[in-house]
Amino acid sequence: MIAVIAIDGPSASGKGTVAKAVAEQLGFYYLDSGALYRITAYCAKQRGISELEESRLNAMLQSLFIEFKHHEVYVDNHLVSEAIRSEECGQLASKVASLKLVREALLSLQRGFCRPPGLVADGRDMGSVVFPEAILKVYLTASPEVRAQRRYNQLINKGISANIMNLLQDIIERDRRDQTRTESPLIQLADAHYLDTTALSIEESVSQVLHWFHDSIQ
Ligand code: DC
Repeated sequence: MIAVIAIDGPSASGKGTVAKAVAEQLGFYYLDSGALYRITAYCAKQRGISELEESRLNAMLQSLFIEFKHHEVYVDNHLVSEAIRSEECGQLASKVASLKLVREALLSLQRGFCRPPGLVADGRDMGSVVFPEAILKVYLTASPEVRAQRRYNQLINKGISANIMNLLQDIIERDRRDQTRTESPLIQLADAHYLDTTALSIEESVSQVLHWFHDSIQ
């Protein structure tokens, strides 16, 4: 049995930062499943495929060579780490992520990340669909206002201009889409620990997850 920690939650909640730090501390692998939906959106846009063309998107995914190495993301040997992080890509990712064939095409790829000694996976359906056997499930969230502020700070630090009200609107819209879709919606599972990071630092959030993990393997 390989230990999996599934961290699900809405966009810009900080789950990626927390999941990465937990993985580092435990020496586990890390899966950023959102990056796969962002890659799908990015490559579709480049090829002129719309978010409505489910079978073309599926065919495209069968032909892509996706690699995560040295903290970077490559598609067909091209570095895309930064390009897939844009707000536009996030919104489009949320749209293609509602398609059944897209989710199916990405399923085995995601499960392939589960290797010894363990995995920390973050996304929307890690605990419900991809790794239902996870030893620890966490639903990590924060208020929409705090999430918009965190995303704003991230963009400004990267030298990208941003408007906080637009970011808040995008977050609310993405939450609604990710939580109400038919295919693998973001839900708070009954067996998941609830972690509201609105008033917590990254360190406090990481140590809470590690505490739950150590409890779960006792
Ligand atoms: O976590 P993120 O913001 O990088 O994810 C981008 C979009 O991808 C998100 O709005 C919904 C989708 N997604 C998903 O449907 N399932 C996942 N496991 C991860 C992301």
